Amino acid sequence: MSAGIALFSGNHLHLSEVDFMEKELRISEHPVLDFSPGDKVQFWFEGEPVTGYLGEPVAAALHAAGIRVLRYSRRLHRPRGFYCAIGNCSECLVEIDGEPNVRSCITPLAEGMRIRRQAGEGRAIADS
Ligand code: FES
Repeated sequence: MSAGIALFSGNHLHLSEVDFMEKELRISEHPVLDFSPGDKVQFWFEGEPVTGYLGEPVAAALHAAGIRVLRYSRRLHRPRGFYCAIGNCSECLVEIDGEPNVRSCITPLAEGMRIRRQAGEGRAIADS
């Protein structure tokens, strides 16, 4: 699967194609924590199929897939990725299954989720 990495040049955002699934970006071993991932599931990001592990945070699944830009800021339309990863900062807001303003860092991944980058304040469900 291919997806884009956001790169900046001046005020313009460019996408470069990278085969993210070739890279494993998850931590699989840790001296203190035990990782026991759930089943592998497929979900959709911007219409492209992506795989992750059931129950892991949506932001973690996206990050592992190489997707860093989760939304664009309201006023200057700057790209934002997750920051606090504990549900406090709202930098990770995305649309999930048509619902805007979902904090992806604390939302568990589920099979078949349809996730989109959020622009500004997000679209109302009725607008999607
Ligand atoms: S990264 Fe801060 S709320 Fe999600």
